[in-house]
Amino acid sequence: MVSKVLVAYGTTNGSTAQIAEAIADILRKEGLTVEAMPARSVTNLESFDAVVVGGGLYAGRWHKDARRFVRRHARELSRRPLWLFSSGPLDASASERDIPPVPGVGRTMIRLDAREHVTFGGRLEEGAKGFIARKIVSSGKGGDFRDFRQIEAWSARIGSELVKEPPSS
Ligand SMILES: Cc1cc2nc3c(=O)[nH]c(=O)nc-3n(C[C@H](O)[C@H](O)[C@H](O)COP(=O)(O)O)c2cc1C
Repeated sequence: MVSKVLVAYGTTNGSTAQIAEAIADILRKEGLTVEAMPARSVTNLESFDAVVVGGGLYAGRWHKDARRFVRRHARELSRRPLWLFSSGPLDASASERDIPPVPGVGRTMIRLDAREHVTFGGRLEEGAKGFIARKIVSSGKGGDFRDFRQIEAWSARIGSELVKEPPSS
């Protein structure tokens, strides 16, 4: 059985961090030891048996902390069970259908042999950083489109896969 799981995330406005915490909570309920951490503060993966990496989407790309994380730890990630998620769409689309990864994340999936990727809805609300973010919110196109039932269902599947996993060598 896999014993320790890292959930690493790249976030600007905090909503991807909350998704990562929700994933970590579900994995703990499955009996796993889990740490959710900002991707940029992870120094090495030695103590982790499996990894989930997520990033907010900005202009068609993963948050830079998530991109740097998968570049920096590519070798270790490719040897561990790995799942990826993105968080972005500011509408209900991510709850209604599978949204494929943006091209860069798609390439990362292949390169690191990730087991699965999912796109969750995003959140952009009052107080978000940046001119464009504030424009989107003031034009009424913001909101919270994260579907925590969907997030929990995805996490529970990861958890049940990991508890069945043979110990890593
Ligand atoms: C400048 C800007 C660009 C964005 N670009 C995208 C995008 O390309 N695709 C997408 O689905 N969402 C996009 N979004 C929505 C964010 O991904 C969404 O708000 C997400 O939840 C942010 O995550 P964070 O709070 O963890 O930073 C964008 C938001 C902003 C402010």
